[in-house]
Amino acid sequence: MPVLPVSRGPLSAALLAALSGPAPGLDDAEALRDVAVPSPADPFADEDLQLALYCAYELHYRGLDGVDAAWEWSPALLALRGRMEAVFEAGLRALVPDVGPAPSAEDVDLAIREIAAEDAPGLSQYLQRSATIDQYREVLVQRSAYQLKEADPHSWAMPRLYGAPKAALVEIQADEYGGGRPERMHARLFADTMEALGLDSDYGAYLDRIPARALSTVNLMSFFGLHRRWRGAIIGHLALFESTSSIPNGRYAAGLRRLGRDDEAAVAFFDEHVEADAVHENLATVDMAGGLIRQDPSLAGDVLFGARCLAELEGAWTGEVLAAFEAGRSSLLHPLERTPVAA
Ligand SMILES: [Fe+2]
Ligand SMILES: [Fe+2]
Repeated sequence: MPVLPVSRGPLSAALLAALSGPAPGLDDAEALRDVAVPSPADPFADEDLQLALYCAYELHYRGLDGVDAAWEWSPALLALRGRMEAVFEAGLRALVPDVGPAPSAEDVDLAIREIAAEDAPGLSQYLQRSATIDQYREVLVQRSAYQLKEADPHSWAMPRLYGAPKAALVEIQADEYGGGRPERMHARLFADTMEALGLDSDYGAYLDRIPARALSTVNLMSFFGLHRRWRGAIIGHLALFESTSSIPNGRYAAGLRRLGRDDEAAVAFFDEHVEADAVHENLATVDMAGGLIRQDPSLAGDVLFGARCLAELEGAWTGEVLAAFEAGRSSLLHPLERTPVAA
């Protein structure tokens, strides 16, 4: 369970201070009413907002160390989270004002592949060709905000679906969760990679170093996953995620091998995704997204919206990381100590 992070502004300070105490009663929906939620020009770069939202969502995953579990369904917390989500959603609508014509069930795989084709290979190519082992470690730290709970946000969609798209989602998720083998769970493989590169794989260990843009990519999944009205968007998100994974993961693995890291623990996570996601792509775009739109054509626009939002937030994150690397700076809020690893 992550320990409470250090606050990054008045909003996260007020939330974290409240979470250190007992949850207010179910009849007290007003306890956090006076906590102000900012409306920054770019909410996805706002450290205070993204950290506060990440912590509010974390209550639905494994929780935060020392935080009263009753906070998860506190009406006061949910009211504050709702105000943060309104800013988050307005930011998404500003980024993706129009998804264009809604695809049919038969065409949605092509529409997703078109978005995937626009995916800038920048970060994965950089890692393949020129990153240092310390830059790899930073990317792992950034990614750990999601990868150590890999697949969990999309699992929120399961009880909201039925029939064909549900069967496809469950088939994908079964692989993500190791197909019954805990040591093959993708989150475990990622933890193995972290450890192989001399990092702490404890859940939440690096939260204080992870910048807003990385947190925003996780908050996006939690936002879509936790709201049934966004079930089309979380499915579109996963469909694009699976379609933009196989090739970049191949580059990540190639970069580690270039750095002399061919050991199973270091590369298994990436190798696994090269293979698994080549299969998941079809399942996710044709059977899952197509199946959902076949059942309910009115969700087609949301499916594309979810995919486009992923492309936007992911692109902004990779752009920020690359800019830091190319300028010779750390991409983290606080740089890691250089620990000697065999490389
Ligand atoms: Fe995976
Ligand atoms: Fe996958």
